[in-house]
Formats: sequence, C-alpha cells, structure tokens
Amino acid sequence: MADADILTREAIWAVYTPRLLGREMEIYREIDSTNTRAVTLAQKGAPEGLLVLADHQTQGRGRLGRQWFAPPGSSLLFSLLLRPPLAVSQAQRATMVCTVAMVEAIAEVTGLKAQIKWPNDILLCGGKLGGVLTELGARGAALEYAVVGMGLNVNLDLASLPPVMTPPASLSAALGRKVPRAVLLGAFLRHAEALYEALKGGWSPYEVWREHLATLGQRVAVGTAEEVIEGLAKDVDADGALLIRTDAGDLRRILAGDVTLRGERL
Ligand code: BTN
Repeated sequence: MADADILTREAIWAVYTPRLLGREMEIYREIDSTNTRAVTLAQKGAPEGLLVLADHQTQGRGRLGRQWFAPPGSSLLFSLLLRPPLAVSQAQRATMVCTVAMVEAIAEVTGLKAQIKWPNDILLCGGKLGGVLTELGARGAALEYAVVGMGLNVNLDLASLPPVMTPPASLSAALGRKVPRAVLLGAFLRHAEALYEALKGGWSPYEVWREHLATLGQRVAVGTAEEVIEGLAKDVDADGALLIRTDAGDLRRILAGDVTLRGERL
C-alpha cells in the first residue's frame, strides 16, 4: 500500500485514474521551479495534461515577481500544462478551473471550506493557504498553452515561514493533524479533469468560480503595476476581471492585480 503522503504515481493513481490530467507526470524530489520546467516542456510541444510535481523547489516563483517558499515535504507544488481552445482574453478560465477544483478537493478530503481571493489565491479563515501562477503562450489572439502552477500549504508548520505580508494558513494547522498529500492531489486532479472537460466542451467556469470568491461586497485595495485602487469590490466579469466602485464613484475594471481585503463587508 503506497504511503498517501509521499508523492508517487502509485499513491496518486490509487485514488484517481487519469483520462487526461496527470496521465504524463514528472515527479522531482527537488527542482528549481515546476513552472519553469512545465513552460520549457510546453514550448517544446509537450501534450496537455502533463503534470510537473515537486516535493521541494529551490526557486519557486510567485505572482508579481515574488518568491514562493515551502519547506520540503510540506506542500503541494505542481504545474499543469493545459492547451484549452480559448482566446488569450479568456485564459483566466483555465486558472478558474484549477482554483475551483482545489477548493472542491479540499472540501472533499478535509471538510474545510476554503475560498478564492481574487484573482486566484486560496484562502482559509482569512489566511493565505495557496497561490497560483499561470503562465501563457499565445499564437496571435489564440491561446497556445496555459501552465497553471499551484502551491498549497498542506502540512506546513506556519512558524517555519519567513515573515510575510499576508498571514499564511495551512491545512494541518487548521485541522490539528496531517493531510495525506497524494490523496488531496488525486482529488484535485479528479475535480479539475471533470471541470476541464466541460470547459473544452464550451462551458465557462465563471459562475462557479464567482460563488467561491471571498472578495465580492468587500472594501478592497488593489495594487496594479501602475497604482493602488481603493473601493468596493462590486463584481467580476466573465473574463475574470474585477469591477471596483471607487470612492469617487467610477467603476474600474481590473484584469490583474493584488487585493488587500479591508475586512469590511458592505
Ligand atoms: C502566488 O501566490 O504568488 C502564486 C504562487 C505560485 C506558486 C507555485 S508552486 C508550484 C509552481 N511553481 C512555481 O515556481 N510557482 C508555482
């Protein structure tokens, strides 16, 4: 019987039989970054569904040029190569599929209710449980590939992290016991595969993703490359953009940024 916390094919396939996602898998004890590896393979024409998985990353990358830090054995760290039939402007749908699948998998395996913080952080009790870095390749207006890289704090001792702006969360800290990572990953792949097959059939994950968002109806400050926009998070649109009503009364549409929740629900 495979140890369900050790990330092996056998342990993952014990709980999930792949049709597409994870049918091809590279598993590393240590790598610089699973996203870097998956992007390299994507550019060489690797098939969709490829999963690059690592127990430890020496140069894990986060959004907006940040680092992603996770001690060996503490987390799920992986990148999934997708080639959805979408325009580049619709690429956020690939990320939506993965964040929704992770929230569903966490609920299935642990009973915990995680949420999504726009655009694609995973939150648990207000702390950051996970993050997603999606990197795209395009041919004109058409999406050639999306590499969706996810980092999830599963059995992470929160005291082992360097000080960070957003308070971290981990499943083991919330539950008071360890969670078998291979079981959680298998559940994620099963949920993601079902959602992704629907996406390829023309379905949009937008409505389901929207229901899992923690951000709507709250006062937020959103840092973009150019400015910080403060106001009320009114809604998101089908392409995943956040709509903010500023204090001056303008409605601003933001495609990429970093949200601070001000903790007031309006
Ligand atoms: C963020 O919240 O800033 C996104 C973090 C994404 C981290 C994951 S870990 C697996 C994959 N490989 C990387 O180098 N980054 C992503």
